[in-house]
Amino acid sequence: MRVVVTGVCGQLGGELCRQLGSMAIGLDVDALDLRHTSRIADTLLRLRPELVINCAAYTQVDRAESEPEVCRAVNAIAVERMAAACGKLDCPLVQISTDYVFGAAPPQPRPWREEDIPSPQGVYARSKLAGEQAAARHPKHIIVRTCGLYARPSDPRAKNFVKTMLRLGGERAEVRVVADQYCTPTYVPNLARAVLWLAGAANGQPAPWGVYHVTDGGQTAWCEFAQDVFRLAKMEVKVCPITTADYAAAAARPAYSVLDTGRYHRLGGPPMPDWRSSLKKYIAQWRN
Ligand SMILES: NC(=O)c1ccc[n+]([C@@H]2O[C@H](COP(=O)([O-])OP(=O)(O)OC[C@H]3O[C@@H](n4cnc5c(N)ncnc54)[C@H](OP(=O)(O)O)[C@@H]3O)[C@@H](O)[C@H]2O)c1
Repeated sequence: MRVVVTGVCGQLGGELCRQLGSMAIGLDVDALDLRHTSRIADTLLRLRPELVINCAAYTQVDRAESEPEVCRAVNAIAVERMAAACGKLDCPLVQISTDYVFGAAPPQPRPWREEDIPSPQGVYARSKLAGEQAAARHPKHIIVRTCGLYARPSDPRAKNFVKTMLRLGGERAEVRVVADQYCTPTYVPNLARAVLWLAGAANGQPAPWGVYHVTDGGQTAWCEFAQDVFRLAKMEVKVCPITTADYAAAAARPAYSVLDTGRYHRLGGPPMPDWRSSLKKYIAQWRN
């Protein structure tokens, strides 16, 4: 199978290419800059993929507030063009999306399900929801919403919370981390395996088209997550809990973005480990 993976220099795109091996046609920003949306169709029609997995995204959540046009071009308009090209090629499109589509407090005390009504807050979140809607216009679509990604420690370009904490832990005795936002940290190799399973990359049999929530298991607050990073890494760092208001980021963050992964698991996808066991594995690899 010929699989085009965009965002190959990013956390998930890089891992997917690693797992796909010779099936992958990885595209970085030099091969296909998604800001130039008119080039997308030509590129895909020339490559004639049998599957497209779009991992490229404008992911700088705070910067997006001052660059809404670029963010929207990459996260929404580009996806519209990709979906149209996939339609011409009759090839499935896997669009990676985010927990940020759920910005409001949940109306009930349970993780978000695929059928819950999105409530994006901020430029990035709205652009990702628009990207989902664009992908869904192509009948053969799989939209995967995920949360709190961290790639293998050996990925030199990865930018994520765990890596930041390990760096800060080497520089400071104390860090301030928000305690009132709940999420599920997700180890990228687990997510990549699940995405390839949903896309049917190994056996040509994709899951039913639609939206899937895929994260590691369980939930935590960022502050507790940071404490676990330092505990497992044996770093003596004090974690001071702060509120979202104290942190004062440019873009709003969801207070509760835990996703219900029941639909994926009921289909029989490879089990997603609990976030704590994934973090343990990451730290063990980081030590080596
Ligand atoms: N990271 C998370 O915690 C998280 C959580 C939930 C959902 N997601 C979603 O998961 C997906 C993968 O996330 P990730 O963490 O792997 O992201 P990432 O590491 O930031 O990678 C995104 C990739 O997109 C590329 N890109 C940015 N602008 C581009 C453009 N104009 N044209 C082509 N490529 C462009 C980036 O290129 P450069 O390397 O050159 O910048 C980067 O390689 C995204 O859709 C994201 O929205 C992420």
